[in-house]
Amino acid sequence: MTEQITLPTAPGFLWGASTAAHQIEGGNVNSDWWAKEHVPGTLCAESSGDAVDSYHRYPEDVRLLADAGLNAYRFSVEWARIEPAEGEISRAQLAHYRRMIDVCLAAGVTPVVTLLHFTLPRWFAERGGWFAPDAVDTFSRYVETVTQILGDVRHVVTINEPNITSMMLGASRRTNLDAAGLAAPDQAASEVQATAHRRAVEILHGLGHVRAGWTVANQVFQAAPGAEAARDAYAYPREDFFLEVARGDDFVGVQSYLRTIIGTDGEPVPFGDDVERTLTGWEYYPQALGEALEYTHRITGGVPMIVTENGMATADDARRIDYTRGALESMARAMAGGCRIEGYLHWSLLDNYEWMSGFAPTFGLIAVDRTTFERTPKPSLAWLGDVARTGKLPA
Ligand code: BGC
Repeated sequence: MTEQITLPTAPGFLWGASTAAHQIEGGNVNSDWWAKEHVPGTLCAESSGDAVDSYHRYPEDVRLLADAGLNAYRFSVEWARIEPAEGEISRAQLAHYRRMIDVCLAAGVTPVVTLLHFTLPRWFAERGGWFAPDAVDTFSRYVETVTQILGDVRHVVTINEPNITSMMLGASRRTNLDAAGLAAPDQAASEVQATAHRRAVEILHGLGHVRAGWTVANQVFQAAPGAEAARDAYAYPREDFFLEVARGDDFVGVQSYLRTIIGTDGEPVPFGDDVERTLTGWEYYPQALGEALEYTHRITGGVPMIVTENGMATADDARRIDYTRGALESMARAMAGGCRIEGYLHWSLLDNYEWMSGFAPTFGLIAVDRTTFERTPKPSLAWLGDVARTGKLPA
């Protein structure tokens, strides 16, 4: 039985979808991920190649989002394009991202701009990336550079999922996102990203109009019977540390897909065979979103939240709608319970390049033909647009 719930509507609430540059633009040849994809014996399923050519087709992508009734688009600007060699700033690439902002604003779409979504310029990665002695200064200079195009942008995400980055680096500084799983995070990487984030927030606040935050991957760590202490110990360096850094920020981005049950041995309990899995192999568990919001609310002490990612990889769009309905019902319960939530941005606007797994796991509200790049909105796009307009979950 579906609950009858009421959600806030656009324009007061951000209703939209998210993407990340490397996953949709194509040809991100100066980034460390491109290098990882092309190294002999790479563990990446395939090259990101042209991705879905959103670098050229973003006006159409923004138009499809706006036509559906959505009013917010989260995308990332690509450091590897803006600063292809250390200290060499591409005016043309800055102008490109400024045009993206303009296209959003002209369509009545609020841009939510992410400064760093996993990919680093190759030159920075080769110098050690977050382990480089001057990592914070280097990142801060990049943030200063991007402020030139943020004149009328209100929402800026500094770093996407620093906790996943720390776990990837913790997996013996391997380059394999999937294999990194939930590896013990590298605490030095966590701390340097926290410092970089705080500096970035200061720089962005210098503009006077920007609301800044970072996004955290919320795993909804649950304790198996008797495993409460083990769960807390597991969660702290992987999640709570990053949520504590967000205390005092203007917002925190909540990114939720699944839950993780921790056993008394302090390790994740594998799912049973009877559990429905998505194309990424994750458990189908839509209520994770509400639980992630309630947890984030508690650990940050009530910092306003934006759902900056939530969705499922599936070839069955009706199941995507079911998942999103379940997630939004749980979000409504979290709001009724006192959580301050300013927006819901679905992952993802487009079927895209899912890192190590390549193009197979489809998260998009819009399908893309990878040969012609033709876009075909799925029913879930119109469904989400209806929610944004009416505040009701359509049957
Ligand atoms: C990331 C996205 C990714 C998504 C689904 C998040 O961890 O920010 O880049 O595609 O989850 O795996």
